[in-house]
Amino acid sequence: MITRNRFGHMPDGTQVEAVTLENATGNQAVILSLGATIQKWYLVKESIDLVLGFGSVEEYLGDAHYIGRTVGRYANRIAKGMFSIDGDNHQVSVNQNGNCLHGGESGFHNRIWDITDIQDSDTPSVTMSLTSPDGDQGFPGQLQTQVTFTLDNDDCLTIHYEASTDKDTVYNPTQHTYFNICGQESGEVHNQQVRLIASQYTPANDQGIPTGEIRATKGSPFDLSELRSLADLIQNSHPEILATNGADHNWCVDGFEPSQSEQRLAAVLVDPKSGRKLITRTSMPGLQIYTANFLGQCKGKQGAEYGPFHGVCLESQFYPNSPNEPAFPSPVLRKEQKFKSTTSYQIVTK
Ligand code: GLA
Repeated sequence: MITRNRFGHMPDGTQVEAVTLENATGNQAVILSLGATIQKWYLVKESIDLVLGFGSVEEYLGDAHYIGRTVGRYANRIAKGMFSIDGDNHQVSVNQNGNCLHGGESGFHNRIWDITDIQDSDTPSVTMSLTSPDGDQGFPGQLQTQVTFTLDNDDCLTIHYEASTDKDTVYNPTQHTYFNICGQESGEVHNQQVRLIASQYTPANDQGIPTGEIRATKGSPFDLSELRSLADLIQNSHPEILATNGADHNWCVDGFEPSQSEQRLAAVLVDPKSGRKLITRTSMPGLQIYTANFLGQCKGKQGAEYGPFHGVCLESQFYPNSPNEPAFPSPVLRKEQKFKSTTSYQIVTK
């Protein structure tokens, strides 16, 4: 079942809509046209909302942490905001330490997306579309982009991205939800556990820019092949973890093939107390695990108080700074190509 409601309006009066996807069990995901944002993911039986979020447009516009947003054109960082495609140099907007983060000063996360398709069934879905003009934040080409959210009866929330461009460009969308599988108001995630199906990661400098190396995780704190508590990661004294005050790193999900569009198992997050699990699958090569290290104190939905480590982001992506790293899978989208990628989050309750 699908319902559409008015969520609020932008300062210029443009309406922001909330689309509620409800599956046959009555569980719900609410998607906003502002930023193609996952505002809520509610489990009826457990009375739990799994994602951080806000109750008003004003709070979303004041949020600097991309909570729940669809991020683009290029999620994560591009060093100095510079890259070239076939010898053509591009300078894009720089908004963090002289680098481009999450699409630059005015990325996709605060745009109003058009609701272009709705499929009302017991696996409801909504498609939102955005046209990013040629030169948007410095990126070449007019990009037509779509994101479809589907909630199925196995409580799998699938996010499918498509895009095409009229000039060669780079495209790297992600979903920046802060999950807390104990409930959005339940505080720090230290006791939750994570396992990654990723035997390599990309070491980075203290600005989060990869050195270019793809390094095996074995024998390091980045080895998450066995279930480990997030506290283990957050409180680790490895210099790369100290540099980011917790996890904020890109892992290379095993089994990526550029020609394959199938999703692969990437991560399992577990709440040992309730046995609840969140399973992440993706067709993308990388997964940034970000433990909300820099989330400041703020008020969330229904009086929740958020702060550092109150959620964990599982951001599927091309590796950071891929436009400048020829050995990394390429984020270049050619004019004659169609971009397609899929990432899904499935909640399994006992
Ligand atoms: C990503 C980055 C973090 C931080 C958050 C947003 O996860 O890697 O460093 O910028 O987004 O606050």
